[in-house]
Amino acid sequence: MKALPDPIIPGLPPSALAPMQDVTNKPFMDVVARHGPPDYFFTEFFRVHSSSTLEKSVLLSITDNRTERPVFAQLIGENLSDLARTVDALKPFPIAGIDLNLGCPAPKVYRKNVGGGLLRDPTAIDRIVGMLREKVDGLFTVKMRTGFEDTRHFDDLISILRRHDVDLLSLHARTVKDSYRSRVDYTYIREAVDRLACPVLANGNITSVTKARKVLDYTGCHGVMIGRSAIRNPWIFTQLRQYWRGQELFKPTLQDVRGYIDDLHRATWSEGIPEKAHLGRLKKFLNFIGLGVDEEGRFLYQMRRAHASPEFFGICDAFLVEGGNAEKPFPEEPYDGLVARPNCEVPKIVDLPACCG
Ligand SMILES: Cc1cc2nc3c(=O)[nH]c(=O)nc-3n(C[C@H](O)[C@H](O)[C@H](O)COP(=O)(O)O)c2cc1C
Repeated sequence: MKALPDPIIPGLPPSALAPMQDVTNKPFMDVVARHGPPDYFFTEFFRVHSSSTLEKSVLLSITDNRTERPVFAQLIGENLSDLARTVDALKPFPIAGIDLNLGCPAPKVYRKNVGGGLLRDPTAIDRIVGMLREKVDGLFTVKMRTGFEDTRHFDDLISILRRHDVDLLSLHARTVKDSYRSRVDYTYIREAVDRLACPVLANGNITSVTKARKVLDYTGCHGVMIGRSAIRNPWIFTQLRQYWRGQELFKPTLQDVRGYIDDLHRATWSEGIPEKAHLGRLKKFLNFIGLGVDEEGRFLYQMRRAHASPEFFGICDAFLVEGGNAEKPFPEEPYDGLVARPNCEVPKIVDLPACCG
């Protein structure tokens, strides 16, 4: 097993920004880095099939990585020679390692037997992981869910990862069928930590520093991987480092959130993009930020219906700056019960056993 790159502060539990398709592209990685980078980045997945080439927009997050942090290239696919060819194609580029996606729950993906679809077939995973382990000279990592419709293969899957000596497992402790909504069962992360020699990053509903600490205590994991809550709160990686070092946590105000939205507005712009499309891109991010703006979801409701920039930014100002809002704290946790996207609900259930508080 090869060692991971040093985290920003060696000795502290590392953090990673979870790969998110159409989100964790180069501009968003830059935005996150400006607010305090995670220790590791992962690209959106490179699709691997018989005619695939490296997607330019994904490759840009590697070739033009200004975050000063290592980036792992994530692959999604199942054909051995296509995967091997893609590993070769990535060789000239400055990646920290190759990451295999074994979790994507989108039906159009899993029906092709890739991503989460592979979790139905441990024998195929054994072949793929074995081949990639041989083929990848540097770090070879896996991002996985606990199973497809249930966890019947989980033990086998962990044995496979162990046998092939993967260098890191990022475990999203839900099945594919659970999608993003259900309870996250961190006992599987604890089991993976117990059985694997490699580091394990806990993933799934790590919404805050407080939650990260509880998950770390409960699972004994090496570090945490955070997705949606880093869109809502891009300061979360800085806050984690502050927490581990016993420092006072940076507490963003609603005014800080307004500044973050301006940063996102600049980052989501591209030459020639119509205003409506640009706002559409921005709203994808605000769907998550809005979960921490007001408890009733009025910001989300109004923001989603804004058609033009002046109206849109007027709503942002009204909720985040005007009427004494600027100095109000941005809450650590998202408000319960608000919906980010149809398939990204904020879970109401407590997903750590009672012993974790
Ligand atoms: C919009 C979106 C896109 C995602 N795309 C990917 C992806 O490309 N690769 C991957 O391994 N996981 C992907 N995921 C899953 C996340 O990496 C992560 O495992 C999941 O969101 C749970 O973590 P969280 O609760 O911190 O968000 C995606 C999740 C979301 C919400």
